Amino acid sequence: MSHDLLSRLKHETAACHTRLENALDMMRGDLQRDEYIALLERFYGYVAPWENAISAVMPASLKTFFDARRKAHWLASDLDALTGERRPTGSVPHADALYDLPQLNNIGAIFGSMYVMEGSTLGGRFIAPHVAQMLSLEPGQGNAYFEGYGARTGSMWNAFRETAAASVPESLYDDAVRAAIATFETMQAWLCPELQDSPEASA
Ligand code: HEM
Repeated sequence: MSHDLLSRLKHETAACHTRLENALDMMRGDLQRDEYIALLERFYGYVAPWENAISAVMPASLKTFFDARRKAHWLASDLDALTGERRPTGSVPHADALYDLPQLNNIGAIFGSMYVMEGSTLGGRFIAPHVAQMLSLEPGQGNAYFEGYGARTGSMWNAFRETAAASVPESLYDDAVRAAIATFETMQAWLCPELQDSPEASA
């Protein structure tokens, strides 16, 4: 089927993905360690409250499925590895204090939002080795978030797609797409606030 949930999510968020990918510009050849640390702190500030928000609304039958996909702990251990200090997580700003996270009021919206986080592991396959090379990191010492599921990335992605397709009724596909777009947009607003009001941001 050409209009199934996952292909709608992919196609209807493609422009958001390109915009975020360009704004983050992680594949550049002059990535600096302090910029990378600042970006990981920003990611933590979005991902940690997002995980709490999803966890609060996830049906009990999908708790194990979701818990196996949590990523904030990788960001925390990367920050530990790079800064040599175990920061109180309270010192990292949290997105929900300043920006609204997407509305997660039904199972379509929950999976639409989760699509964005799970899909990001695919880009991680390119970002993790690039960052390791740029900053001379040992594998997993500072790039665990982008390494993500590592060799299991493909199977975790396929399992996510199957569970999403089985869990979301067609009547909620529009809500799933809306939530995915809102997730990309709130995430970009949080990660790249300096781009928000410039004319280039909407170009
Ligand atoms: C510089 C940063 C990024 C790069 C270079 C990048 C690159 C990529 C690449 C190459 C793929 C396709 C992989 C494949 O099909 O095997 C992909 C997929 C995806 N990425 Fe990114 N990405 C980046 C950032 C992000 C971020 C921050 C998010 C969201 C948090 C994200 C969400 C997604 C999603 C949802 C998909 C799946 C698309 C689909 O097939 O349905 N990406 N990315």
